[in-house]
Amino acid sequence: MVEPIKIGICGLGTVGGSAFQLLTRNAHLVEAQVGRPILVTHIGTRRNNSNCSVDDTIIHRDIFTIAAEPTIDILIETIGGCGTARELVEYAIDNGKHVVTANKALIAEHGNALFERARTKGVSIVYEAAVAGGIPIIKAVREGLAGNRIEWLAGIINGTANFILSEMQSKGRTFDEVLSEAQQLGYAEADPSFDLEGIDAAHKLAILASTAFGIPLQFDKVFTQGISTIELQDITYARELGYCIKHLGIARRTDHGIELRVHPTLLPCSHLLANINGVMNAVLVAGDAAGPTLYCGAGAGGKATASAVVADTIDVARSLANGIENKVPYLAFHHPYLSDEQILPIEEVESGFYLRMKALDKPGVLAAITQILSDTGISVEAVIQKEPKQNENSVPLILLTACTHEGRLIDAVTTIESLTSVSGSVVHMRVELLSK
Ligand code: HSE
Repeated sequence: MVEPIKIGICGLGTVGGSAFQLLTRNAHLVEAQVGRPILVTHIGTRRNNSNCSVDDTIIHRDIFTIAAEPTIDILIETIGGCGTARELVEYAIDNGKHVVTANKALIAEHGNALFERARTKGVSIVYEAAVAGGIPIIKAVREGLAGNRIEWLAGIINGTANFILSEMQSKGRTFDEVLSEAQQLGYAEADPSFDLEGIDAAHKLAILASTAFGIPLQFDKVFTQGISTIELQDITYARELGYCIKHLGIARRTDHGIELRVHPTLLPCSHLLANINGVMNAVLVAGDAAGPTLYCGAGAGGKATASAVVADTIDVARSLANGIENKVPYLAFHHPYLSDEQILPIEEVESGFYLRMKALDKPGVLAAITQILSDTGISVEAVIQKEPKQNENSVPLILLTACTHEGRLIDAVTTIESLTSVSGSVVHMRVELLSK
């Protein structure tokens, strides 16, 4: 009888539970792919998952026992976070286990050290499930597009944020109402501020950029803005101008360095990414040979993420069964010259801008504002000015600018905010065409 490859799963929540079920349900298919049976022999969890029956599998309350268990070949980490999960993964690597993880925070923030540790120990650490749920985007970039120089990539990489924005745009539902539905559906992070403030997307962008450009993980250099400040009125005005607001992660090579940024973005309504709604994720990757290619699918939820966890498990198991060398990402470590590419500060990034301000409804105000933009070398592409409501003497003024340096735009905004005819701060959001 062929000896099975033995797996321990640590964390039996939404993703871990679904991964266990998928490995069990498709055991024959998995065996056919690997050439050897795969068996989950141990599960580490503090509490049982009522949606997941684990039959005879041994349950440990102390997850570290699994990392040290001599019979286990691969440890699947689905605990999340950078505390216990980090200690567990380090301990598993030190004990010679290959690691499959769905933990984007762990990889984005500690991946460089973990990869080095895994390389020293000769084990794999794989993390397809960390980015864009069920979409095999890491494999697409690392394997399918391996012969390309990746120029840029842009994507909707947080399902919860996209779900909230889509529901607000299409049904006019409130932020809080949609967030609570996203939590019930198992899309949101344990701490939903990670989804709302763009941190989760920044983790994923750091991982994508590292894979695409062969640079070390640099989560701390990702410019990060979330969706929590987007108002329904901005969604409406953007629509009037022919744009949808999407929360995007963008990584782009330029002659001066690499852009790494996560923020709400106005996209033309006709753009493919503008039409990716609900919990769906999509990533557009532009390679110098393949041109732009689009990858789309469910970006969150147990089943979709389990698909990626199981694919990674099969991948590692195949290498074990067939003796292929391990797959620790090596670009960043073996081509250090690539690491020198600097990450651009946001002030040096170029894009168009959507501006919304509250201005006095009197002669010369619009002229003064456009004069400031003109003095700063910024061209105006479109303007909307609404009539004042009864008993109000200020009006919303919305401007769309041509492409400009962010630093220049911020200077202009600061001067506009100092005008006595403009009250409050000027809302500004980046506009992208992503057309080449
Ligand atoms: N909270 C994440 C999201 C889960 O909404 O995209 C998938 O990483």
